[in-house]
Amino acid sequence: MRKNQTSFSSKLLTEFDRFLKINSNQDNKPTRHLPDYKRNKFTLPTEDLNTTKGLMRINHTGEVCAQALYYGQALFAKDKATYHHLIQAADEEHDHLCWCYERLNDFNTHTSVLNHFWYASSFLLGSTAALLGDRISYGFVIEIEKQVENHLQEHIDKIPIEDTKTHAILAQMKADEIRHGNNARKAGGIDFPHSVKTVMTALSKVMKFLVYRL
Ligand SMILES: [Fe+2]
Ligand SMILES: [Fe+2]
Repeated sequence: MRKNQTSFSSKLLTEFDRFLKINSNQDNKPTRHLPDYKRNKFTLPTEDLNTTKGLMRINHTGEVCAQALYYGQALFAKDKATYHHLIQAADEEHDHLCWCYERLNDFNTHTSVLNHFWYASSFLLGSTAALLGDRISYGFVIEIEKQVENHLQEHIDKIPIEDTKTHAILAQMKADEIRHGNNARKAGGIDFPHSVKTVMTALSKVMKFLVYRL
């Protein structure tokens, strides 16, 4: 019993350490190289540049949330296979996080000042989903990844085509998110009721509205 308590507290400490590293942008080494893209020189009009910065800030925060969600879910996964499934997806999301961070640096702009809050809320959400059972937890992944896929496509449509590096990053992220959603479905994830999907969409709209600006 005491050993279990010790190992749970050490897991919580690991999670707290991850929270600090991600939110201070210290954890920014990807395991995969940036996706290939055609290098070109271009200058964006100020309005397009500001739009791209805001959208990439949203994507970076989305990946901060993805880390928190997946690790919150993994911490309370009921089954070992579920745990490993979630950690593998979290590793790929970590690459996304690093690529988005690199792009924000390229644009000489900041990450969202609200990331600590989004991380903590997402970790709580992910943990809650996992405590309700693995099939609900996978269902949560299915719905989140669907929403991310949709917003990535919106960003791909808005960002100027000359910005080949951003486009390559977003295209790879979208492909990975689709695969994460499909894998969660294959693993037995349930389809959420319409009302839950509506609440999740509304929350993500609030997040996007604030992060674009802050
Ligand atoms: Fe991602
Ligand atoms: Fe994903």
